[in-house]
Amino acid sequence: MADNQIITGIKACVFDAYGTLFDVHSAVGVHRAALGDMADAVSVTWRDKQLQYTWLRSLMGAHEEFWTVTGDALDYALDAHGVDDAPLREALMQAYLELKPYAEVGDALRGLKERGFKLAILSNGSPKMLAAAVDNAGLSALFDAVLSVEEVGIYKPDRRVYQLACDRFAVAANEITFLSSNAWDVRGAANFGFQVVWMSRTRFPWTQNWLNRSV
Ligand code: LAC
Repeated sequence: MADNQIITGIKACVFDAYGTLFDVHSAVGVHRAALGDMADAVSVTWRDKQLQYTWLRSLMGAHEEFWTVTGDALDYALDAHGVDDAPLREALMQAYLELKPYAEVGDALRGLKERGFKLAILSNGSPKMLAAAVDNAGLSALFDAVLSVEEVGIYKPDRRVYQLACDRFAVAANEITFLSSNAWDVRGAANFGFQVVWMSRTRFPWTQNWLNRSV
């Protein structure tokens, strides 16, 4: 689809979880004192590596659930920044189950629900991780579905992941709006056929539409 297109005919609003609803950097935020000057660098490396590992595993046909990938990525990040602290590693993983939602998330979801939209999460997260984050944030009652890639055993942006939302709500792809702060996820979702919204939360520029240069 072209950038800046008007969204119409929507039946369900489907959200990415990590980085979109939940602040992935809030885990390190809880343990900032223990990490000192390394805190931000560890957090960024952790997230970058976590995503890289999902793409590697998908391409290699070697799926492991997101909890394992997240732990592997944290091990890399701590090692890369010279942090050797097993109790801190465990504490950071625990904090990942209790990530803070962004400030506007609750009100935004309630507003959409009041307008009659079905609401869902569609995430790389394992069911256990997603349930923990949603419950901890007090958002459970708002979602009609919390969908995990574990149902198909491959990570975003594989088309089978996005298909899960169509199947759950029995609607066509273009009747779903998919909202994510992760530009690569937005591109994947648009390529699948969803009407997409990029929720920019960082200083990074938009990912150009190299999928269809004629648009
Ligand atoms: C997710 C990752 C992409 O929640 O943040 O699926």
